[in-house]
Amino acid sequence: MGRKFFVGGNFKMNGTIKSIKEIVHNLSTSKLDPDTEVVIAPPSLYLLLAREHLGPNIEVAAQNVFDKPHGAFTGEISVTQLKDSNITWTLLGHSERRTILREQDDFVATKTKAALDGGIGVILCCGESLEEREQGVTTEVVTRQLEAVNKTIGKDGWKNVVIAYEPIWAIGTGKVATTEQAQEVHAAIRKWLSEAVSSEVAEETRIIYGGSVSEKNCRELAKQSDVDGFLVGGASLKPEFVQIINAKV
Ligand code: G3P
Repeated sequence: MGRKFFVGGNFKMNGTIKSIKEIVHNLSTSKLDPDTEVVIAPPSLYLLLAREHLGPNIEVAAQNVFDKPHGAFTGEISVTQLKDSNITWTLLGHSERRTILREQDDFVATKTKAALDGGIGVILCCGESLEEREQGVTTEVVTRQLEAVNKTIGKDGWKNVVIAYEPIWAIGTGKVATTEQAQEVHAAIRKWLSEAVSSEVAEETRIIYGGSVSEKNCRELAKQSDVDGFLVGGASLKPEFVQIINAKV
């Protein structure tokens, strides 16, 4: 069986009760490709609101989660709390958290392990800066980020991970990676998975692309053999998100 196409919507720190209800209503009343897995990630304050108003065909993800089960960790939420709220996925390692909030590879890895151990799927983000791309070290950067996780979760952990390749220079810039650039890095990630983990994990793991995905560029990107879906930022807040979900139809 092939890899199921996966489209995530990362709302980042956007939305209000009203706008999130509207987005959820639009998703719930639109015809979505049943062969695509859809997950939306609103800000934590609105996770339950989204969950409450969505049908069972769409899952909800946190944008981050902490690696301890409970306790004195002001401002954090735990895997146990996500489970308790029927939130089944989390993003981890987004470049905005790596750069603005200074999250290191090891911390992302520990949190990934905690989420997987607690039964939460992880959309694990990786990607290079423009400077790193220009230096020709894209593959090294991305595989270093993934290797930290691999060391921590081991071979069996990967079955509940979706890898999101998000080149930082393409995020929110309107400057999408070309289909060739995306395919090239996705293929390099799959090759790394096959060498560092196993050929089964390489074959089964979804590798999705993020960075200025729109209703205009999604179809071409979706045709690439190693592009198994998208992680969508800005466009996930708009009605056009439905066209991105349906990119394969
Ligand atoms: O996680 C999604 C992301 O960072 C891409 O954002 O706005 O370029 O689609 P955007």
